[in-house]
Amino acid sequence: MMSEVVVAIDGPSGSGKSSVSKGVAAEFDLDYLDTGAMYRAITWFMLTAGVDLAEPEAIAALADRPTLVSGMNPSEPTISVDGTDVSEAIRSTSVTGAVSAVSAVPAVRERLVTLQRAAVTQAAKAGRGIVVEGRDIGSVVLPQADPKVYLTADPQVRAQRRAAENQASARGTQDVAATEESLRNRDAADSSRKASPLQLAVDAHVVDATELTLPQTIAAVSDLVANVIGSNPADLQSP
Ligand code: DC
Repeated sequence: MMSEVVVAIDGPSGSGKSSVSKGVAAEFDLDYLDTGAMYRAITWFMLTAGVDLAEPEAIAALADRPTLVSGMNPSEPTISVDGTDVSEAIRSTSVTGAVSAVSAVPAVRERLVTLQRAAVTQAAKAGRGIVVEGRDIGSVVLPQADPKVYLTADPQVRAQRRAAENQASARGTQDVAATEESLRNRDAADSSRKASPLQLAVDAHVVDATELTLPQTIAAVSDLVANVIGSNPADLQSP
């Protein structure tokens, strides 16, 4: 069925993955899973539980503890931890500053990868396709995804966009230089960690959004999705 397409969108912080993924999901009526939000939610849980983030064993010991539930509607994605909606709380500077340390712990990644694959299976059982965004979706979590997109943009452009987003939502820093430094630090940590670093899947399509507006980027990714759907006529839904 057309709706069972699985789209992987990976890329560094601030590349526009969330806006693009939600836009593409809305266009094709697909579910949407933000795996970064899952890493943020488990980080929120660790901070709230008072875990010492300098102790990977302490993080690993609690990795299976919280119940995480992701709402997969692209127009209103949600995430809860043990029944508490943390959709807003996971965007705080304290979570943003701690998430690379938590997401580098293999036990955390194992737990979340299992949940991510289960979400895709659940969508498929309901006859729905899905857009999954993250850092290792095409390379590790869903190697069967098609299309795989690697969305990127120059660091200065990513920082400007992220700072403007922060200003619009009145959260996080609005200082472009500070945002760029934070993005570069997170890129370095996410790309150099041992467990599933940010990496380009061999069969990923690179979309560089440096010179593109959001609608142009959504259109570029939508073309890739349309190609996949169109390349397998048996998958097209009957009218
Ligand atoms: O996309 P984001 O900024 O909300 O992601 C938050 C953090 O989670 C990011 O620093 C890296 C981590 N992450 C990850 O390790 N693997 C993923 N699939 C998604 C995010």
